[in-house]
Amino acid sequence: EEMRLEERFDAHIDAGDFIEAKDWMPEHYRKTLVRQISQHAHSEIVGMLPEGNWISRAPTLKRKAILLAKVQDEGGHGLYLYAAAETLGTSRDQMFEALHSGKAKYSSIFNYPTLTWADMGTIGWLVDGAAIMNQVPICRCSYAPYARAMIRICREESFHQRQGYESLLTMMTHGTEAQKAMVQDAVNRWWWPSIMMFGPPDDQSPNSAQSMRWGIKRFSNDELRQKFVDATVEQARILGVTLPDPDLKWNEERQAHDFGAIDWSEFWRVIGGDGPCNRERLQARVDAWEDGAWVREAALAHANKQPMKEAA
Ligand code: ACO
Repeated sequence: EEMRLEERFDAHIDAGDFIEAKDWMPEHYRKTLVRQISQHAHSEIVGMLPEGNWISRAPTLKRKAILLAKVQDEGGHGLYLYAAAETLGTSRDQMFEALHSGKAKYSSIFNYPTLTWADMGTIGWLVDGAAIMNQVPICRCSYAPYARAMIRICREESFHQRQGYESLLTMMTHGTEAQKAMVQDAVNRWWWPSIMMFGPPDDQSPNSAQSMRWGIKRFSNDELRQKFVDATVEQARILGVTLPDPDLKWNEERQAHDFGAIDWSEFWRVIGGDGPCNRERLQARVDAWEDGAWVREAALAHANKQPMKEAA
């Protein structure tokens, strides 16, 4: 019976059909999705912290309103994604527990500090730009609840990327020399971590082959990284900033840019818990959870009173 179900499932995948929450699926497919979707949700929630750091210091009311909206969007993305993961039979409490105990992964990029205002624009341009490159193909992920959540997320990410680029463009075209230098410094610090976001090289990516077979991933880590580099070079030229890689150059034969070696030891260190802000980020989430305990208790006490009221 299990064999027949698995054959039917594989045939659906091969035909490009979507899988819904109530459809039969192999246990490994379910596990892989819970892993990826919950990591993605945690990334959105932890990703609110580096930018939240600048809401009270945005230079104008307009910039503050944009940043507030963006950080709220990220909170919303986290919630859609937790809901998508819940359809696979995992609970939100389990996912939070995994995050708060340090067991769960979230994107490496959010373990870097936001030192200046230019980091806000640079995160929009590079970090959200990389996120879009990775996430647009997930709108066609074989698991339908995840794919549906990604459609709205990608539209909002596109606004995030544009506001970041526009903010940098304003500083680069109308700013002082000091502001231009601040933008260049932010780009220097965020470039390499941004291209690490796509994950390890294909030959060191244990999950890629199976995830691509199942249509969870549509492109490999290295393919997406290459597309991102190629798209970003021209944007950097228009902006008037230099990407901090002396080996970055057009390769006529490959019709793509060559780029320098990525420091993978830094990547593994950061995802292993030892990046510049890992402890601070996790502590902020644990504190938020603990500070919210009274709200959960009050909501529960209120809910428990409801049946009594009805009975009365
Ligand atoms: N940060 C943290 N961990 C990472 C990263 C990263 N940038 N890249 C890879 N990893 C982890 C993987 O989660 C995996 O760990 P695990 O097996 O313990 O789960 C391990 O490194 C090996 O990587 P892969 O085999 O390549 O893993 P996978 O096939 O899941 O690919 C990827 C990683 C590309 C991040 C994929 O999970 C994905 O597309 N996720 C959805 C998008 C996402 O999470 N984006 C979050 C950042 S963008 C944002 O939120 C604004």
